Amino acid sequence: MSYMKCLKSKGTGREYPKEALYVCEYDFSPLEASYDYAAIKKNLTREKIEKGPRSLWRYRDLLPIDGEPTVGLHSGFTPLVRARLLAEELGVKELYIKDDSVCHPTWSFKDRVVSVALTRAKELGFTTVACASTGNLANSVSAHGAKAGLERYIFIPYDLERGKVLGSLVYNPNVVAVRGNYDDVNRLCSEIASRYHWGFVNVNLRPYYSEGSKTMGFEIIEQLGWKAPKHVVIPAASGSLITKIWKAFKEFEQLEFIEGGLNTSIHCAQPEGCSPIATAILEKSEHVLPVKPYTIAKSLAIGNPADGYYAKDVIEASGGSAAIVNDDEIREGIRLLARTEGIFTETAGGVTVASAKKLIERGSIPRDESIVLAITGNGLKTQEAIQDSVGEPTMIEPSLQSFEEKLKPVRDI
Ligand SMILES: Cc1ncc(COP(=O)(O)O)c(C=O)c1O
Repeated sequence: MSYMKCLKSKGTGREYPKEALYVCEYDFSPLEASYDYAAIKKNLTREKIEKGPRSLWRYRDLLPIDGEPTVGLHSGFTPLVRARLLAEELGVKELYIKDDSVCHPTWSFKDRVVSVALTRAKELGFTTVACASTGNLANSVSAHGAKAGLERYIFIPYDLERGKVLGSLVYNPNVVAVRGNYDDVNRLCSEIASRYHWGFVNVNLRPYYSEGSKTMGFEIIEQLGWKAPKHVVIPAASGSLITKIWKAFKEFEQLEFIEGGLNTSIHCAQPEGCSPIATAILEKSEHVLPVKPYTIAKSLAIGNPADGYYAKDVIEASGGSAAIVNDDEIREGIRLLARTEGIFTETAGGVTVASAKKLIERGSIPRDESIVLAITGNGLKTQEAIQDSVGEPTMIEPSLQSFEEKLKPVRDI
């Protein structure tokens, strides 16, 4: 049973068949999955969701597949943790971490989008899948595609972190490093997609792929006891995650699943070396102007964001704001989250934590309102970013004397 009716142009509203299509031929705007919400409202309840699997597939009725899920059966439904120590440091009352640094199997929220994209790719008959990636998507397509028995082509910029490259190679796909930045890789992939008719998860399968990000939003509301937070801080590259967390909130609102209704502001977090969306917000500009990225937050290094304008609309419509943080602030954000909450996030998470700090200090997020930080990836993949700023172990000889001399420990109890 599927509630997905068709693909719909975000610009003209024209309807398209549920195929591997992604752009409206009238105004070149993206296509988006559209559902029969009246039927969903009749059949879907909060109790039904709560009885579902402990994975992103508990929201299957709101996802764009026709049959049963076949990929990512253990992805999603990651922890939402109350962050009391970080809240104390930031001087706020009610703070939560949505922790996708532990999403299975490749430790980023991309395991959500890929689970949906590859399930749909198989339904549409693709046997070869591909992606253009800043690293995490590459890892996820490589791993999920391996388990699904699919041929894989993974296109990445040549200068990604070693952990991200290795985290794709180990699953034995075709990894192609392109001498250029992500925007060059993406352009090349559009050409390859039209010539080879593979299932490019973020090109011709993008309407299905992007819907996977909604599950992060669904989980936030369900895990807060079917309540919406007042603020969510979300890192942005293409801007898709921002638009889809918002779409999830709006869908739950429409289904009347949210106790107390929806009054959430969405805030955008971007690094100084690549902040086209945040800059447009802060400068109150009508335009999201492309940039040439230069930042340690390589997962967010998309200079020409596909969903930039839509993300900007969401931030403005929800009464949110944006923050831009530099490389030192990103490193400090990573260390702060680790030392207060025991969560080791990658550079994108450092951007989120550092941006939240700025938004709070600036008064864009009041200190007495509930806040969720979207922590989207794992720090073990971007070790280069902080290797020079976390110190070294204390070196001792293998003797009690050396231990006591060097550390001057104090006995407990
Ligand atoms: C860890 C991480 N967080 C956030 C993002 C941003 O996602 P989006 O392109 O949907 O804005 C990415 C994108 O690759 C990412 O890898």
